[in-house]
Amino acid sequence: MATGWRRASTMAIASRVALACLIVACAQHQPKGSTRAPEPKSWTAAQDHVQMMEQLGIQALRPGPSGNERDPNHANYDESRANPYPDLPPLLTLKSGAQVTDPRMWRRRRAEIVDDFEREVFGRVPKNAPAVLWSVVAADTATSAGRRVVGKQLVGHVDNTGYPSIDVNIALTLVVPENGRSPAPVMIMFRGGSLAQAVGRPAPASTGRGGFAPPPPSPGSDAPATDQLIADGWGFAFLNPVTIQADNGAGLTRGVIGLVNRGQPRRPDDWGALRAWAWGASRALDYLETDRTVDANIVGIEGVSRYGKAALVTMAFDERFALVLVGSSGEGGAKLHRRNWGEAVENLTGSGEYHWMAGNFLKYGASSATFGSKNAGDLPVDAHELIALCAPRLTFISYGMPEKGDAKWLDHQGSFMAAIAAGPAFRLLGAKDLGRTDNYKTEKMPPVNVGLLDGQLAWRQHDGGHTDGPNWKYFIAWADRFLGRRYVAAPPVPGR
Ligand code: GCU
Repeated sequence: MATGWRRASTMAIASRVALACLIVACAQHQPKGSTRAPEPKSWTAAQDHVQMMEQLGIQALRPGPSGNERDPNHANYDESRANPYPDLPPLLTLKSGAQVTDPRMWRRRRAEIVDDFEREVFGRVPKNAPAVLWSVVAADTATSAGRRVVGKQLVGHVDNTGYPSIDVNIALTLVVPENGRSPAPVMIMFRGGSLAQAVGRPAPASTGRGGFAPPPPSPGSDAPATDQLIADGWGFAFLNPVTIQADNGAGLTRGVIGLVNRGQPRRPDDWGALRAWAWGASRALDYLETDRTVDANIVGIEGVSRYGKAALVTMAFDERFALVLVGSSGEGGAKLHRRNWGEAVENLTGSGEYHWMAGNFLKYGASSATFGSKNAGDLPVDAHELIALCAPRLTFISYGMPEKGDAKWLDHQGSFMAAIAAGPAFRLLGAKDLGRTDNYKTEKMPPVNVGLLDGQLAWRQHDGGHTDGPNWKYFIAWADRFLGRRYVAAPPVPGR
């Protein structure tokens, strides 16, 4: 916790830099000629969803099951009915049928898997995705978790000269310990949070910009993840996902997705929100690579729930990320799509959540379409392959307990099976996996609080709820071990 702070003298410099950047950006914004592009399309998620169904030739989608166990159409929680498509797409077989036996062949297989995920599941980052111009708009120093820290508030202005009606400014807050000359490894977290909060000063009134932020920990519990990281010599960065792309379907004609499409609807293989958030994390890493206080070789990504999915997607697609903490990610994240347990493909193809995915993903929930119908078993890839794309880098799959609110809906066992089935890719690349057999059909997840932490692929279900809070200390110690760092634990939050 902060014990004192002062305005940094860098503040004045920072604002001058920001002003200079703004002037450059404004100069680029002058409209060329008098022809104005049309305003971005304004419609509801339901309208956008229908137009995507029309593009795909889908007449009807199966409704997703209900999360409420009292509803007649509730999701399945009977393990004997949980594996209707028991065989996963083979991980180490090229489309040609050849077995992948060495890392060089894995590069080819990896490209095939990436292509399938991009086309059918998460969508592609457009080739003309705009550049991001980062500027420091405020700076601060403080004492946090017993160390001097330096905080910076950054804005990543997404070049909108091609379509000035949409203005996207990514909010990133970076805090690193004052380490003298040695740059700090950094965890980027998908969440909101002001500079004042980040350096540990009492929170001012909310900015109303959204972005999930965890509640403060109670006395006696682990220190907040941010304090744990600082105490151990790491830095952290809050990356506010909704400043990149809104978390709803109506927003798909705005944000960075709308900007590239000049305010018009997506095509079926265009990126969804998960891929857009992941793209934003990659752009944040671009900035961190230029910041001398940061060791850009050790930058990780973290998120919980929908942002756990986004963290996994980030790590899978951008090989510059060294590590990931995937919190309670469920369907669309670490959970196997092919499992019939809790949240289903059909929930992600409905109008409330489809915006996370590529339009093409809707096909797998179709009951009636020009192509007939498709289901989870028709997906060319599954979650084990998404996890495998992270290999051999440090990949920690985290969950909590259903009894404490980490809903059964997330399918802990189905996520464990995916991690088991990803194991061969880690071993092929010289890393260690969960240390179990490769038989995802029979392997059962370990009891709560029993971590499988001996490999670069790790698993731990903690005894808390829908959070990764209780797993942070295991995650940091595990990462340090593989990175050759000495782990320094933060003291718990003082009791009353
Ligand atoms: C819903 C949704 C999940 C998602 C979660 C969240 O429960 O079904 O897929 O992870 O919201 O992000 O909070």
